[in-house]
Amino acid sequence: MKPRVIVTRRWPAAVEQILAERFDTTFNQGDAPLGPTELKAAFLNFDAILPTVSDKLPASIFPDADIRTKLLANFGVGFSHIDTDAARARGIAVTNTPGVLTDCTADIGMSLLLSVARRAGEGERQLRAGQWTGWCPTHMIGTKVTGKTIGIIGMGRIGKAMAKRAHFGFDMEVVFYNRSKVDDEETRAMGARQLATIEDVLAQSDFVSLHCPGGAENRHLINAERLASMKRGAFLINTARGDVVDQKALVAALDSGTIAGAGLDVYDGEPDVPGALMRMENVVLLPHLGSATEETRVAMGMKAVDNLTAFFEGRALPDKVV
Ligand code: DGY
Repeated sequence: MKPRVIVTRRWPAAVEQILAERFDTTFNQGDAPLGPTELKAAFLNFDAILPTVSDKLPASIFPDADIRTKLLANFGVGFSHIDTDAARARGIAVTNTPGVLTDCTADIGMSLLLSVARRAGEGERQLRAGQWTGWCPTHMIGTKVTGKTIGIIGMGRIGKAMAKRAHFGFDMEVVFYNRSKVDDEETRAMGARQLATIEDVLAQSDFVSLHCPGGAENRHLINAERLASMKRGAFLINTARGDVVDQKALVAALDSGTIAGAGLDVYDGEPDVPGALMRMENVVLLPHLGSATEETRVAMGMKAVDNLTAFFEGRALPDKVV
């Protein structure tokens, strides 16, 4: 008998086909996020669940008895939407999909940085509204990117890809904060400098780009105090997780001119986005597009399939989280 697995959202067709061939797979035909009751029931009825970032799996969703599920093969690298302690306590393994979305997420980070600095969103809105009256020397003046300093918080795979883009593509000086020491040679090769504290990074950077995981540990890492310690005229870029930033404090900092602007791909409480942010011209807002390319989404799906296959063949999990 094939293992019973449930895929909570629609995945790229090529990956769904493989899942359908290898497993007794239930697909969520409607593609709307499953509710708490459906997710809870999934633990009782399926050997594995394949969730995504849009599935909230706090401890309260995990049933206490009669659990059939032995694996959560997450479609995505970030897993702060899953209570991994609750999974571990019930003997459920969790895997993710690292490595394959590094470049595309860094690309979105860089495009947010460029767009907010050069007022691309604002310019496009003006043009489409038929309000552009023609070129003039003082029209929509932005901030030059080349040669400026970028501060990276969290120097994992995506942070490094962002650093390389910034340094080699735009001649930017790169400073960063990372909880553990990054190898000196690797740091030099990225044209970067590791600083001792987040405050050091914030104080020196024209652009601050977040690349640390979400979840309790980093919740509101960027708060009012830290926003106030950023350079005047600096920009905040977030392609990591919305909860890393205190959104109320961000709105206040943008409103008061404490920082010049923000480029955001992620939000606390997605898909809700604070109305105040939507009304601001100095903010570029994307709907969590970091990994949204055909190539990357297929690669993410294939990684989840590899984890699933390894699990049911009794092999070591390639991307074990717990
Ligand atoms: C991830 O993989 O964590 C992304 O945020 C979802 O694309």
